[in-house]
Parts: sequence; C-alpha cells; structure tokens
Amino acid sequence: MKNLALGIAIGIYLTGCAAPSSPTTGYQPVMAQQGKDVIWVPTPDSLLIKMLETAQVTSKDLVYDLGAGDGKIAIEAARRYGARAVGIEFDPQMADHARQNAKNAGVADKVTIITGDIFVEDFSQATVVTLYLLPSLNGKLHPTLLNMKPGTRIVSNTFTIGSWSPDKTFYGDSGTVGYFWVVPAKVNGFWRLSGIPGFDQATISIVQKSQEFHADFTPQGKAFQRIEGRLNGTTITFSYADAQGAVQTFSGEVVGDRFTGTLKGDPSVQITGSR
Ligand SMILES: C[S@@+](CC[C@H](N)C(=O)[O-])C[C@H]1O[C@@H](n2cnc3c(N)ncnc32)[C@H](O)[C@@H]1O
Repeated sequence: MKNLALGIAIGIYLTGCAAPSSPTTGYQPVMAQQGKDVIWVPTPDSLLIKMLETAQVTSKDLVYDLGAGDGKIAIEAARRYGARAVGIEFDPQMADHARQNAKNAGVADKVTIITGDIFVEDFSQATVVTLYLLPSLNGKLHPTLLNMKPGTRIVSNTFTIGSWSPDKTFYGDSGTVGYFWVVPAKVNGFWRLSGIPGFDQATISIVQKSQEFHADFTPQGKAFQRIEGRLNGTTITFSYADAQGAVQTFSGEVVGDRFTGTLKGDPSVQITGSR
C-alpha cells in the first residue's frame, strides 16, 4: 500500500467511477482508500467493458477479479455475459459491500466474493483473470499466471505483467489502457515431427519465451533452419522452408506431449509432433 501515490500518478483515471453506497449496509468506500497491497480505485466503465470484450467473456467462463473492490468487474461479467464470477477482496467491509452490490444487481447467484488475499487464495480454475493492481503486484503474480491452464485469458487495467509482452493492447475512454494475454501451452524442448511433405522425418528444438519461440527445425539429413513461432493458448504456429525452399506455415493444437495440425497451404496434410 506504500505505492498508492505512485499508482495514482501512473495514470489511474478517477472519472466516472463513483461507487454507490450499499442500500442495506450503508457502507460507502472512499476513492483511493487504503487496501492491503494497493489502494481502491475502480476500473472506469468504458475500460471495464473493453476488458471483458477483449477477453471474449461468455456464459461458459469463470472470471476471477483479483482485488475485487466494490465487485464491479465480477458483477458486469455476470450481468452482461452471464458468466460466473469470483472476486477476491482483502478488505472485509469492501467484500461485504461487493456482495451487496451483486445482490442489488440481481446476480448474487452468479457472483461470489471471497474475503481473502490474492496471494493466498486459489484462482487456478479461472478461465478469465482480471487485474487492476500495480506493476510490482502483477510481477509477483507473473509465474502463477503464466502457469495457469493454457488458453486462460488475462486482462489488466493500466499495467503489464513483468516481462510478459501482451498479445493485445486496447483503450477505453480518456486515454485509459488495458492489456490482454492468453496463457500459452508449454512447448519448450525437443519434438519429433512426422508427416511433413518432402521430409521423411524432422525434429524441432524449441526455445520458448512466453507465447513466442525460436527453434531449430531440422529435416533428417539436412541442415537445420532457425525459425520462429508463436502460441495462442494451445494453438502452435511456425513456418519453415520445404524441400523446394518454399515457405510453409504449420498450425496445430497442443495437447500435453503431442501437437497435431496441418499446413496452411494444404489442409489435407496432417503433421504430428511428439516429445
Ligand atoms: C485498484 S482496486 C481495483 C478494484 C477492482 N478490481 C476494479 O478494477 O474496479 C484494488 C483492490 O484490491 C484490493 N486489495 C489490495 N491488496 C489485496 C490483496 N493482497 N488481496 C486481495 N485484495 C487486495 C484493494 O482493497 C482494492 O479494493
């Protein structure tokens, strides 16, 4: 919480975010009030909608808002998209207020507010994680977030997550900014490839950095090619030069220690990678 001035100074927008007091508890949180690790400032409505839209939240999702404040992100995910949503909020009064807000919004059946610490509570079941914390807190969460189930979507108001480059940057009103990531499957290491036209066998040795990688692609008996590729959740894509020197792009799905897919130029070709 020592960083509250910093948090405000780095561009937190306070417009359009006054919190209604709860009709039954009478509690009224105060803008920028102290929280355990970061102050309370609600995400502005325009950016909140962009966050949920960019994450493509649907009624199938389980959305976790880490540091839920008055519950507005969880409530909107439930109200607008029919998602189940969980907010984790350390301040018990604020958590009660968020629960009451969920009741008032008619989504108490879909929204759960946990009174707890985001560094202690388990959010591994989330399909979407929303953040409005500080760079230092996002950095601390980085390893946990990166190790979530591949395909989990993460959106953050204002701040990035350590060295993890976002898949997308988006904007709300008044210069507000958000970032989006998809947790990539883990493909680092050595894979055997079969089914590549023109090559009996090939291998690919991948060095992965978050959703990006470079790799040595080695057709049997031929010189290796240094190539680059990408993960979008469980979808792996890379390009290589075929036996005629033409660029071929492979795209497939990673499931555990296997990936299977096709060539963009010829979807009838089935290529498999295995560890
Ligand atoms: C900047 S506000 C964001 C509120 C909400 N997510 C939103 O975007 O409108 C951060 C919230 O995190 C809460 N908080 C701070 N440290 C926390 C921690 N370690 N665990 C859970 N909540 C925490 C604060 O009380 C505050 O309500």
